[in-house]
Amino acid sequence: MDLEIEGNAALVLASSSGLGKASAKSLAQAGADVVVNGRDADRLQSAVEEIEAVATGEVVGCAGDITEPADIETLVETTVDEFGGLDHLVTSAGGPTRYTFFEAPDDEWYYAFDMLVMSVVRAVREAGPHLRENGGTIVNITSMVTKEASTANVLSSSVRMSVAGLAKVLSQELAPDVRVNTVLPGLYETPRRMDSGQPGVTHSEIPLGRLGEPAELGDTVAYLCSPRSGYLTGAAIPIDGGALDSTQ
Ligand SMILES: NC(=O)c1ccc[n+]([C@@H]2O[C@H](COP(=O)([O-])OP(=O)(O)OC[C@H]3O[C@@H](n4cnc5c(N)ncnc54)[C@H](OP(=O)(O)O)[C@@H]3O)[C@@H](O)[C@H]2O)c1
Repeated sequence: MDLEIEGNAALVLASSSGLGKASAKSLAQAGADVVVNGRDADRLQSAVEEIEAVATGEVVGCAGDITEPADIETLVETTVDEFGGLDHLVTSAGGPTRYTFFEAPDDEWYYAFDMLVMSVVRAVREAGPHLRENGGTIVNITSMVTKEASTANVLSSSVRMSVAGLAKVLSQELAPDVRVNTVLPGLYETPRRMDSGQPGVTHSEIPLGRLGEPAELGDTVAYLCSPRSGYLTGAAIPIDGGALDSTQ
């Protein structure tokens, strides 16, 4: 299927590794020009080279911290300056530190809010006018914990709920020009998860019997950016191998 996004301009936040990188890669494979972002310059450069190897359009690295408002402004400006516009905004982030409720200090709550919520607020504020110009898309990468809370990860389970509400509001406020969807990853084989030895559901609790491959999420993100998903907006889509034990 041709995703019909060749030559479109995309900005993917926090995309030098894991699910953000996989999304940038899928968009680049489908022919979009992509700005890739992360804080660490070496990691960003190697992600740019990996994505360039499969891209047909341009791939530009832009270092920056998504908790910093000025860096978000630079990311949007860079995309528009490099590619002449902005058609697709994909928001990812780092993972918040895992705490149970009584362990989590105030500053970590505020940092999680800045990283997971204010990064989306600020990026949409900056990107919104450009996205509206030609009819664009926003895809937020959050987590299945917004459907099924994890006591081991109170920050992710609580703070990400704001992105769920925000995405729904934006899907209404920006319609019909801009479609806004959210993907809810289950458990994926990304560096963050593999390095941390995090406890989580075991493979036997995932109906498909395995962790997800980042490319499987990235391809869904690219599809949500494509006009081929043109009647989808305001949706929150679990991509979790069936792990969510919820009928909502
Ligand atoms: N992997 C999973 O199974 C899973 C499941 C559910 C939800 N999620 C969520 O999906 C998101 C991505 O997870 P992942 O597993 O792909 O993580 P990852 O492999 O560690 O990648 C995180 C990316 O975000 C960048 N980043 C982190 N903090 C940043 C900041 N302040 N500003 C700019 N870039 C930043 C990192 O680069 P730098 O460190 O160099 O900045 C890196 O490129 C996280 O929010 C995670 O909680 C993941």
